[in-house]
Amino acid sequence: MQDEALSEAARAFRGRSVVSANDFTRADILAVLEAAGAFEGRAGGPGSTPQEPRLPGRVLGLLFFEPSTRTRLSFESAMLRLGGSVLGFADARVSSFSKGETLNDTIRVVAGYCDAIVLRHPNEGSARLAAEVSTIPVINGGDGSNQHPTQTLLDLYTIKKAMGRLDDLRVGFMGDLRYGRTVHSLAAALLHFDVKLSFIGPPSLKLPPDLRLEIEEAGRLGIEVESLDEVEDLDVLYITRIQKERFPDPVEYERVRASYRVDREALLPLGPELKIMHPLPRVNEVAPDVDTLPGAIYFQQTRNGVTVRMALLDLILGGGA
Ligand code: NCD
Repeated sequence: MQDEALSEAARAFRGRSVVSANDFTRADILAVLEAAGAFEGRAGGPGSTPQEPRLPGRVLGLLFFEPSTRTRLSFESAMLRLGGSVLGFADARVSSFSKGETLNDTIRVVAGYCDAIVLRHPNEGSARLAAEVSTIPVINGGDGSNQHPTQTLLDLYTIKKAMGRLDDLRVGFMGDLRYGRTVHSLAAALLHFDVKLSFIGPPSLKLPPDLRLEIEEAGRLGIEVESLDEVEDLDVLYITRIQKERFPDPVEYERVRASYRVDREALLPLGPELKIMHPLPRVNEVAPDVDTLPGAIYFQQTRNGVTVRMALLDLILGGGA
């Protein structure tokens, strides 16, 4: 893609909300990934060097109405590393939500306290709603089982780093295809690239029909099977946790829970080149003996979260300007 198209896409992030991966163009994705490259080695961890402050005096609001470790802390780390500050809450019970305040009102108030908001909320569509009433950019940190667009950006960054490309890839998604927002976001974003997407999961946890149709119509649908034994050629296997909290029926959760566990042995037939990803947290779907496989990149994936979120915040809040 032309450099000019990428810089144009990068500039267009300024002041913009990030609500859904469906809103991304190919240029948007490539622009963020390119910007993230500049923060490589500056996001913490061994050998990391400090980043010059690019967002001093800027404040990021972190409104988390659902549990989070990675998304909240990596956004916090990213903002602090850029020289900005954060405020917010990690538990809705300590906010006025518990007094009956609406999300709309909370957003309108917090928009007066900071420069951008990261929102995680159990209701699908909540981020879109928040972005509509907010006077500052809203970044969706996960809205129910719908979308998790910043996870997608870090997933794509991880794939690009591990494989050297985003085109000509066979990606398999395994686990909770129905309720897993990371699956929905990543599958939609991958449609901008030349990929084959396969899906492995129980019949009760299949992809939402509209997303499946979109993938099929794009000519990108690979196989849909119940077990990993039925899968052959994959470059990347993206495993997800069964989203217990989204199940209306706990009995159904118990039924599918045990059926999705991969260990080293189950992955061996897929070859040593296979990259194994997981947004984390894992519960019991990936055995610890998988961690030492050279293709197991889920802890690198989670580290990339800071790098990519630094880039995104920098683009949205105009750190380069
Ligand atoms: C995911 C989420 O919250 O959607 N976690 C994350 O942000 N890395 C995945 C999950 O909870 O299973």
